[in-house]
Amino acid sequence: MKRVKLSFASDVEVEFCDRERALQQVEGLARRGTRFPIVVFGPEGCGKTAWLKQATELLRELGYETIYVDPLRREFVARTDVKELVEKFVEAASEAVGVAQLKLATLAIDAVKWLVSKWRRGKVAVLVDDAFQAIGLDKAAMYVKSLLGLTEYPPEGCEKVVAIATTSEGVSKREIGRHRWAELTPMWNMSRKGFEELYEKIPGSKPSFEEVWRLAGGNPHMLAQLYEAKWSVDDVVARLVEMKELTKGFVERWRPYLKEVVEDPDNLCERDFPEELRNELISKNLVVYGMFYRRPALWIDEPPPERDLELGIGEEVAWQSPLHREAVRRALEGRR
Ligand SMILES: Nc1ncnc2c1ncn2[C@@H]1O[C@H](COP(=O)(O)OP(=O)(O)OP(=O)(O)O)[C@@H](O)[C@H]1O
Ligand SMILES: [Mg+2]
Repeated sequence: MKRVKLSFASDVEVEFCDRERALQQVEGLARRGTRFPIVVFGPEGCGKTAWLKQATELLRELGYETIYVDPLRREFVARTDVKELVEKFVEAASEAVGVAQLKLATLAIDAVKWLVSKWRRGKVAVLVDDAFQAIGLDKAAMYVKSLLGLTEYPPEGCEKVVAIATTSEGVSKREIGRHRWAELTPMWNMSRKGFEELYEKIPGSKPSFEEVWRLAGGNPHMLAQLYEAKWSVDDVVARLVEMKELTKGFVERWRPYLKEVVEDPDNLCERDFPEELRNELISKNLVVYGMFYRRPALWIDEPPPERDLELGIGEEVAWQSPLHREAVRRALEGRR
């Protein structure tokens, strides 16, 4: 399989590495097709896009006409020899911001229908990245339902359809989970072994792997952030504090509860934990709430450990990465 090249930092490109099980799972999906669209959720920056891009390549090699779209960033990869279709994507992507996002998302679905009905292709895959941020949460369920329309009742003449969408929004996960329309599937940060492989690819002098693992807990985006910040943990954390709006007011209002979650994320499930704060921590993408049982069948790639408080992983709730927790810890200490 050809490994895709990914932009890791402004001056570093890396080849897709690790995620062996996740790629085998794609092969499995390719053999069977997806009965329900698979909606993959996981921490921000855990590597969903990287995996989806590699899957695009793999599915093509397995004989699928494959459409990958990232409506939000107006990116697409149309791995098909139908030129007319590729042109349609180029056209849609060049529309004005706002219009293009919606057009690309819709086109991805239409493309599957056309590939089957008009161009008589038997195996078609549609991979939609960051699906719901672009089209809006209110339309997320409807969108997944139209993907379901493709997988449940594939257009006539179609052998197999594979439909996968990703999201890093805890809120959209909840919205999708309410319906039976999709197979909601979590993906976690990289395993220690895979993360080390990626770490080794980074040029220049760097802190020990142990230290980086303790900080990023396998989150490749956090690794990239540390690299870009010349390994200044302070800079990376300060940025997170700003991005997540961990303001003085927020911290003062919730101090005792935030301390509890920093100690052990599962405290978020306690009965007297304020619901408002729970929702805030989910929607700020600081924690993943409702971690699935660690049965491999339920996960894309390897599930995380059952509980690892050093990495901020609880049974039912986990910090998206140890650095996310560190941002809250520092905000609590008033350090920036
Ligand atoms: N398996 C991998 N091999 C090599 N690089 C990877 C891998 N997974 C992720 N990366 C790199 O790590 C960074 C973050 O990954 P990616 O953008 O795929 O995460 P994401 O889960 O899609 O994030 P977001 O939630 O923001 O959409 C990227 O720079 C990507 O190139
Ligand atoms: Mg992504």
